[in-house]
Amino acid sequence: MLFDEVGGMPFIEKLVDDFYEIMSNDPEAKDCLATHLGRDMKESAVKLKFFLSGWLGGPQLYLEKFGHPRLRMRHNPFSIGPSEAEQWLYCMRQALLKSTISDSLRVQLFDSFIQVAKMLVNRPS
Ligand code: HEM
Repeated sequence: MLFDEVGGMPFIEKLVDDFYEIMSNDPEAKDCLATHLGRDMKESAVKLKFFLSGWLGGPQLYLEKFGHPRLRMRHNPFSIGPSEAEQWLYCMRQALLKSTISDSLRVQLFDSFIQVAKMLVNRPS
């Protein structure tokens, strides 16, 4: 199971903390950061951690706490064009590079993130 292969919750905790730190500070991610303005990003981080746990085959924490993820619907209030998606992926790529998982796992995870990010684009340009 991917969840165990990557190192379980400690991996997810670090990945998401790194992701939010990069998004908050790297000017390359400013449009992606702008979609989050006004949100409690500590809470956003917890939600992403809970989601990734279940998504990687671990405990279904998001489902238990918040119900079905319905990611596309839950992202509808935010304006997500190709640039926001690219920037989200940019932050995730940097965060993955900071982790100690193998290159093959990193590629596998990143490819899956690309698919989800593409699906969440709700603005053409
Ligand atoms: C494509 C670029 C993306 C943008 C700009 C974006 C932006 C956002 C924003 C602004 C929120 C609201 C934060 C909050 O209410 O606290 C959010 C929530 C969330 N995002 Fe994304 N996101 C993107 C991609 C993704 C991807 C690829 C995933 C999963 C792999 C993901 C998973 C989540 C989850 C689980 C939540 C919490 C949903 C909820 O409970 O309301 N997002 N996202």
